[in-house]
Formats: sequence, C-alpha cells, structure tokens
Amino acid sequence: MSEGILLAPVARGTLLPAAERLARLDEALPRIRAVLDGETDAVALEATLACLLWETLVQTSWCGFYRRVDERTLAVGPYHGTMGCLRIDFARGVCGAAARTAEIQLVPDVALFPGHIACDDATRSELVLPLVIRGRVEAVLDLDSTHLDAFTRDEAQRLATLLADAFASARF
Ligand code: SME
Repeated sequence: MSEGILLAPVARGTLLPAAERLARLDEALPRIRAVLDGETDAVALEATLACLLWETLVQTSWCGFYRRVDERTLAVGPYHGTMGCLRIDFARGVCGAAARTAEIQLVPDVALFPGHIACDDATRSELVLPLVIRGRVEAVLDLDSTHLDAFTRDEAQRLATLLADAFASARF
C-alpha cells in the first residue's frame, strides 16, 4: 500500500530500473516537500522522512537516520526496516565514514567497503548522506538494500538537496 504520498504501489524490495526509480523519486519529492513545509523539529522531520522515503525508495530494506550523540558516536533514530545497530562509532562502517568525512557514501557492493557493519547480513549496497547543519554533521540518512548497486548518483543528489532544504531551519 502507498497511502502516504499516493505513489503507485510497488512490492517492497523491488529493484526498479534506475530511470524508473528516478522518475518515482521525482514524483514524490514535491509531495514530500509539501508535507514537511514549515516543520522545524528534527525528530518530526526525520520520522516523516523515514516514512515517506521508505514508501518512495522501494529497493530499501532499511531507511532512516542515525543521530550524532557525541563527538564520535551515532545513535539510531527514526527508521523503517529490519532492526538496526543501536550505536555506531564514527570510525566504523559506511555511516561512520559519512559522519567523519561529511561526504556522501555511495557503496554499490558493501563486501568491498572496508569496515562495513553488517547489522543485517542481507544488505548488499548502501547510500549514506550526511546531514550537515551550520558546518556540523548532526545526523546521517542511511539507505540500505538487499540488492547490489541499488542507488545512483542522481538519487543521491536529489536526496542531498531535499535534506539541505528540509533541515535548513531544524532544531536538533
Ligand atoms: N549500514 C550501516 C550500518 C547500519 S545498518 O545497516 C542499519 C553501516 O555500515 O554503516
């Protein structure tokens, strides 16, 4: 079912062709922006994005946020999917790399990423975007899939712009 932002229903876990994924994301983005408009509470934004991106990005098996809780630790935030690790050190995994470097991590094959954290053994590829607010990484958006190569640069770019706009005035 897709009732949140009324996208065409697609079975969870389906890896649509890249062009169809981008078209679905482009259809969803204005609706997601409309839902989030005016909200400044970080948890409200994170929880709603986890819900609506889960609906949009049907290739994901995990979709949500890790929040910075001190200078080198992320703690799990709002998400959908299989149970995630509760805490991640900045030194570890794809999420840690995004938090440490403040750069997007696009990992088409997690087996080739040194230090990948297998919260779910079925994960094959990931996209992690840092949420940089006033020069500081406050959280990361973690997207995981059981398919290899389930995310593209185009999807990453669209999502980075969405996050920058949605959280521009957010209170953490
Ligand atoms: N994929 C992350 C770990 C978190 S979970 O898989 C939900 C990583 O390697 O950083």
